[in-house]
Amino acid sequence: MYFPAALLSLFASFYSARAATAEQWRGRSIYQLITDRFALPEGANPNACDPGKQDFCGGTWKTIRENLDYIENAGFTAIWISPINQNYEGPRSAYGEPYHGYWIQDISQLNDRFGTADDLKALINDLHSRDMYIMVDVVVNNVMATSTTPDYSKYFFKNASMYHSYCPIQWGNTTSEQNCWLGDDKVPLPDVDTTNPTVVAQYGDWIQNLVKEYDIDGLRIDAAKHVQMDFWPQFCAKAGVFCMGEVFGGLEVDPIAQYQGPQALDSVLNFPMYSALVEGFAIPGPGNITAVSTVFEQSRSKFKDTGLLGNFLENQDVSRWHNISVDPQSLYNAMVLNWMMDGIPIIYYGQEQLFSGAADPYNREPLWTSNYTESDTYKFIKALNQFRNFLVKTDWLEQETHILTTSPYGIAVMKGQVISVATNIGSPPRNNTNIAVPSPYDPSSEMTNVLTCQQWVVGSEGYLDVEYTKGGTPVILMPRSSLEGSGLCGNSLTQNAGNSDRQVSSAGTLSSLRMSLLPLATFLLFWTFYLL
Ligand SMILES: *[C@@H]1O[C@H](CO)[C@@H](O)[C@H](O)[C@H]1NC(C)=O
Ligand SMILES: *[C@@H]1O[C@H](CO)[C@@H](O)[C@H](O)[C@H]1NC(C)=O
Ligand SMILES: *[C@@H]1O[C@H](CO)[C@@H](O)[C@H](O)[C@H]1NC(C)=O
Ligand SMILES: *[C@@H]1O[C@H](CO)[C@@H](O)[C@H](O)[C@H]1NC(C)=O
Ligand SMILES: *[C@@H]1O[C@H](CO)[C@@H](O)[C@H](O)[C@H]1NC(C)=O
Ligand SMILES: *[C@@H]1O[C@H](CO)[C@@H](O)[C@H](O)[C@H]1NC(C)=O
Repeated sequence: MYFPAALLSLFASFYSARAATAEQWRGRSIYQLITDRFALPEGANPNACDPGKQDFCGGTWKTIRENLDYIENAGFTAIWISPINQNYEGPRSAYGEPYHGYWIQDISQLNDRFGTADDLKALINDLHSRDMYIMVDVVVNNVMATSTTPDYSKYFFKNASMYHSYCPIQWGNTTSEQNCWLGDDKVPLPDVDTTNPTVVAQYGDWIQNLVKEYDIDGLRIDAAKHVQMDFWPQFCAKAGVFCMGEVFGGLEVDPIAQYQGPQALDSVLNFPMYSALVEGFAIPGPGNITAVSTVFEQSRSKFKDTGLLGNFLENQDVSRWHNISVDPQSLYNAMVLNWMMDGIPIIYYGQEQLFSGAADPYNREPLWTSNYTESDTYKFIKALNQFRNFLVKTDWLEQETHILTTSPYGIAVMKGQVISVATNIGSPPRNNTNIAVPSPYDPSSEMTNVLTCQQWVVGSEGYLDVEYTKGGTPVILMPRSSLEGSGLCGNSLTQNAGNSDRQVSSAGTLSSLRMSLLPLATFLLFWTFYLL
């Protein structure tokens, strides 16, 4: 069949011009990047970017677009980019240039350091043509200044009455955390008064237009806990897309969980599980697997919807995993949990290259020094994404995750048909660290470790015995017959519907078939309308 290109692109825009909901984000996996640091324009000096200097390094929306294959080939189905709006312009601040995009001045304009409106639209169109989503980072809580008595006329909100008056934050005092100013005396961040009805209305109109104009699929909201909670439902309703907030925290689940739900946001970044994975898996570290199981159980009862949380091990604010834990197996095992439990997995650019910078600004390295190599970690992430992208077309996302067992050396979890076993022992081989995993499968059932394609057989009473005599590598087991159609471990990418030998005809397999037929049906429907 031949379709004229113009009609195809008309169809593509028809198909993609829809705001993405929480439900549509649930099955995605996200690559987070800082626009300035992801890719250089051709001809630029690749050796001129020193994160310690806090200067612009030259990345743009156009250079992201030129390098999308690198992200898509790793199996990601969305990207999250650093803020796109105009930032502070003036003499260099005590903390350098606003290369990261978080130092907002005027939200009614784009940041021309990163390109034009057309460049941004071209990036987003390209993503949509790959069936990938765009999540844009937005800063609502504050603007940036270089003194506590700034000239408000340069900001979007031009009247001092639209800001809270200056006070330093008293941590632990919620009112103070919401109304006082983030930052410090060198770079204060004037706190926008988000209880002011004019501010609320103007923010609502702004986000509605921004999402529409650029066809944005989701928002990552900076410093969400520094704005009063009841601001968010109407703001996100105006945006009409998935909202994931940054509510910074540690192991404690309660203070974070209260921000998810109809009273606040669709989702938050999963700081409790991040903190627990550091406790449980970092080497050296306390190796406290109980922290992981405790946060897991509390999350299950306290979060409104753990399937929407943003699971991460690195971001622009915390030290890279490889800085706190050099053994790559510690990263791989922790990543397996982020992919195979509830939640939307997120990688921070450079994690796939084992970058090792400490906290801000050293964790904002330029990616180009890696030459975009398909490193072992890149390949590991690609395998996780390929497997999860297959699972999300079945009923896997709707299945509850539960812990099968914990040991001092690791934890085994099950979601749907998939059993994942993660250990914290690291790369060196160890004897006497076996984890005996009680599974619901019948003895002698055939399983495949999707990370290595090795075949496993379930032992007596349904136990799976995982041993680490060759080192502490993670294990992901799936019944062999259920991998049909996955494209993994020798299985083709398509269902063999005529295969009458197939024993398993689970709801998962059927719904995956339905999902793959859906776009075709939509396409035919569109053509029917078009030809009428
Ligand atoms: C700024 O806010 C003050 C106090 O609410 C108000 O009296 C004044 O009219 C406002 N100015 C402008 C230009 O809106
Ligand atoms: C909490 O912070 C608010 C705002 O700065 C302040 O008015 C209030 O006195 C503080 N409460 C306590 C108990 O310190
Ligand atoms: C391990 O974590 C649990 C749960 O957070 C905590 O109660 C316990 O004190 C921790 N143990 C160690 C040795 O840090
Ligand atoms: C962690 O970061 C600090 C500061 O950048 C650096 O000195 C140190 O070498 C890093 N550690 C590792 C293991 O890379
Ligand atoms: C990237 O390529 C440059 C130029 O060929 C080379 O000097 C450098 O070692 C490479 N870096 C990595 C991490 O492969
Ligand atoms: C594990 O046990 C085997 C067999 O007894 C032995 O050869 C090997 O050296 C042991 N490995 C370690 C790391 O202790």
